[in-house]
Amino acid sequence: MSEAEIIDGKAFAKRLRDRVTVAVATLKADHNLVPGLTVVLVGEDAASQVYVRNKGKQTQETGMISDTIRLDAATPEQELLDLIEKLNGDDAVHGILVQLPLPDQIDEAKVIAAINPDKDVDGFHVVNVGRLWTGATAPVPCTPYGCLQMLKETLGDLTGKRALVLGRSNIVGKPMAALLLNEHCTVTIAHSRTVDLPERCREADILIAAVGRPEMVKGDWIKPGATVIDVGINRIEAPEKGEGTTRLVGDVDFESAKKVAGHITPVPGGVGPMTIANLLRNAVIAACRQNGLDAPDL
Ligand code: GUN
Repeated sequence: MSEAEIIDGKAFAKRLRDRVTVAVATLKADHNLVPGLTVVLVGEDAASQVYVRNKGKQTQETGMISDTIRLDAATPEQELLDLIEKLNGDDAVHGILVQLPLPDQIDEAKVIAAINPDKDVDGFHVVNVGRLWTGATAPVPCTPYGCLQMLKETLGDLTGKRALVLGRSNIVGKPMAALLLNEHCTVTIAHSRTVDLPERCREADILIAAVGRPEMVKGDWIKPGATVIDVGINRIEAPEKGEGTTRLVGDVDFESAKKVAGHITPVPGGVGPMTIANLLRNAVIAACRQNGLDAPDL
């Protein structure tokens, strides 16, 4: 039996970063405009430290101005809100990203609401969520938009396809559903309490797994030939590699799924690299809009 084609997210992301780099050089040459992206990290969360370091590095590589502000884990909420207000008023900062999760003393919703929606490169502000669901122009959450780009490159027109989004988070599941709906898919949002979940998954031409449960989706949950996008990044123990070692797996059981799917993203090297590339894209677009320029087609 033939195996699924692997969707190479790393290669997609590289091409997108290259387009962003060209756009940044053009903005500088034609308008003396250098997009600026500021990332705020509160605390010491290990995974967040890695993401934030990569964001900073890749932002610089495109020629943008990158700033990373690291705050102590005990930072009071008001101090973070004051910082956001300062960044909102800084014309050299076009994009603001506050890395999530935040420590318990800080209300995430309050922090997201404090960011100027035009500088909200995550697309998490309620104004941008509303714009997305009403079909208006808005910064779009980076991970789901990366999934959509890979789907469109792989499948072309998505009109009429049955899509199932497994997971209902504000960061991935809900915006993913909105994006697929905007592409004229018939969309189901499923989650951990969905009845007959394997059957519902088997109906889908496009299956997006974003529940955060290691290898939950098995090969026999997948419609033969379906396109499977695995958003999960789960670290599990890997005793086969030696005592105390770990490995990354997705929400999809890759070995059984690749025997059934038509196309599938791997973990790592699938959706992950697309997230930062789209953050860079959002920062360039935000800089253009804030300066009354047409955003480039990226
Ligand atoms: N933490 C995990 N993913 C994300 C993301 O896309 N944006 C922010 N701000 N924090 C995150």
